[in-house]
Amino acid sequence: LVSEAPLQLAHTYFRLHPEESDPIWGNPCDDPRHLKIWSKSKECEALPKFLVIGPQKTGTTALYTFLSIHPNIDSNIISPDTFEEIQFFNGNNYYRGLDWYMEFFPIPTNSTKKYMFEKSATYFDGEFVPKRAHALLPHAKIISLLISPAKRAYSWYQHIKSHGDVTANNYTFYQVITSSESSHKALKDLRSRCLFPGKYAQHLEHWLSFYTPQHMYIIDGEQLKLNPIDVMNDLQRALKIQPILDYSKQIRYDVKKGFFCQISSEKRNKCLGKSKGRQYPPMDDKSLKYLQRYYMSHNTALVKLLKKLGSRPIPQWLKYDLSMFS
Ligand code: A3P
Repeated sequence: LVSEAPLQLAHTYFRLHPEESDPIWGNPCDDPRHLKIWSKSKECEALPKFLVIGPQKTGTTALYTFLSIHPNIDSNIISPDTFEEIQFFNGNNYYRGLDWYMEFFPIPTNSTKKYMFEKSATYFDGEFVPKRAHALLPHAKIISLLISPAKRAYSWYQHIKSHGDVTANNYTFYQVITSSESSHKALKDLRSRCLFPGKYAQHLEHWLSFYTPQHMYIIDGEQLKLNPIDVMNDLQRALKIQPILDYSKQIRYDVKKGFFCQISSEKRNKCLGKSKGRQYPPMDDKSLKYLQRYYMSHNTALVKLLKKLGSRPIPQWLKYDLSMFS
């Protein structure tokens, strides 16, 4: 029997099986053989029980903040490398490996009752994310937030503009969303980042090819904005969180901010920063009409999907966006 040195052997192997060269991290806790050889210092509990997957600009930070108020819910450690979002399943961080990811979720010392979660708002439309997330966290609940995709696109444009993005500052929103294939790359990229995540049905179907409908939990982002107490109470029940925390005692509407904020004392609230709930002019009518038409087939598919997923009420914004062309 002839063999090669390990490195050569690996080269030969991946030449024969190129499809396997991209790693997929499985869950060591789901395979007794893996569990047996796993380091004694590792714990199955040190992985998230649910993921908030986005998309961006739908209220993910508010949801993250409200969830973190619960004494038994904890998110990942904040690192200077990754800030609030780990973004493990979508980018190069995935190649840093399982140990790197698990270090963000230290084993709870007081009890095993802690519900760990992670929020990375770019997971929603990431090409490889559902497959990778399912390989590692097959039992996790997957939470997404949806608002009108037209509004989401505009919020993203305003977000990137206020961060000094040259393209967003040189072109109007209408120019961005209507730019064509012959436009320059920066404009096309910005257009795609405004529009692509809003194809909700397509992205949700992708998640549903890995997770069952029972694993998916969809929140109406407009309801999170207007009625977060009910949203949080319903979410806790769906996630089977114990004890149920009464959010009417944790958050209240802040007139100055124009949004719900965390109650920090009798007279004071702790609101999200300036970058969340920004002040900007309303979207122009031409852009709104363009986007309602652009998203019509996607929104129609979303209604079908939501109906298929069960008795979830169809969000008002979805009915409104569709009613413009019926
Ligand atoms: P705008 O700043 O465009 O109004 P994300 O955290 O996913 O980036 O989403 C940001 C959006 O969350 C904000 O978009 C805002 O409308 C919405 N939002 C919902 N509830 C909020 C809250 N309690 N405080 C601040 N923003 C909230």
